[in-house]
Amino acid sequence: MATEMLFSQTRGCILSRGISKLGNDFGQLFFPGSTDSILIAGDSVKVLARLPNKVFQTCVTSPPYWSLRDYNIEGQIGLERSLDSYLKKLVEVFDQVKRVLRDDGTLWLNIGDSYTSGGRTWRAPDRKNPVRAMEERPPTPQGLKAKDLIGVPWRLAFALQTAGWYLRADIVWNKPNCQPESVKDRPTRSHEYLFLFSKSEHYRYDHRAVRGPNNRNTRTVWDINTFAIRAAHFATFPPALVKPCIGLSTRPGDLVLDPFIGSGTTGVVAYDLGRRFVGIELNPEYIHIAERRLNGAVLR
Ligand SMILES: C[S@@+](CC[C@H](N)C(=O)[O-])C[C@H]1O[C@@H](n2cnc3c(N)ncnc32)[C@H](O)[C@@H]1O
Repeated sequence: MATEMLFSQTRGCILSRGISKLGNDFGQLFFPGSTDSILIAGDSVKVLARLPNKVFQTCVTSPPYWSLRDYNIEGQIGLERSLDSYLKKLVEVFDQVKRVLRDDGTLWLNIGDSYTSGGRTWRAPDRKNPVRAMEERPPTPQGLKAKDLIGVPWRLAFALQTAGWYLRADIVWNKPNCQPESVKDRPTRSHEYLFLFSKSEHYRYDHRAVRGPNNRNTRTVWDINTFAIRAAHFATFPPALVKPCIGLSTRPGDLVLDPFIGSGTTGVVAYDLGRRFVGIELNPEYIHIAERRLNGAVLR
């Protein structure tokens, strides 16, 4: 195989440091009967552009939030000067995601909100969370004021709806162990959104595969504690958030996509559920964390 193998084959995964190195072998991933999964280091929109049409059953992902974190790597999404260019960039990524999804495919999108900077031009480093430090913060978007909650999740949801996605559910991820906030003029924020989109009107969703208490249909408020892995100093989403998404919308052996895989959570859950995955990540250091996590070397 011409592929640069950096990841244990025993778990059925291949790690490539760049799609260009994959050559023709890359197609093997999409052959019927393939058992491979892959982590690809690169810019999601560029990597996605090289993937074939209609191969993934679902995409579960959490893109960088706007103006909240500096992942310290050129080409990163989230540091755009204007909210509009951030939204446009993500719509571009999810246009590609739509193309590579099967017609009955779905997208589970976790996205957080933020407040306007209110004229503050930087954010001090946070000991527990270094990626929250920002050397430069974007100006308040036109039409908003200092202290306004921006409503990023819904703005993105509407932009994706306009781009052709079916918006099927807004799930509130309630975090019982949320970070305390020192604010005195509003409630502490303890939730994020997880949107379910579909590519078509009818799509794969097996409501029997995951049930709520007393065998009820899954509800739209999910109580799930946040989850930190020691090796990653950035926001990871909890495996418990990803598990129902994959369970409801795929079958064993199906391919799952995460174009912003970070520390590899989507891959770990997909793998544990007997699904295959393709994970894309710009920062090679994070790919390394994902690789170690998938090999069982760090806390999952
Ligand atoms: C919110 S984090 C994802 C965390 C992930 N869900 C996990 O559990 O570890 C967003 C990720 O997107 C990556 N990223 C930022 N810009 C990117 C780009 N243009 N292409 C690919 N990945 C990018 C960041 O490096 C970061 O790891």
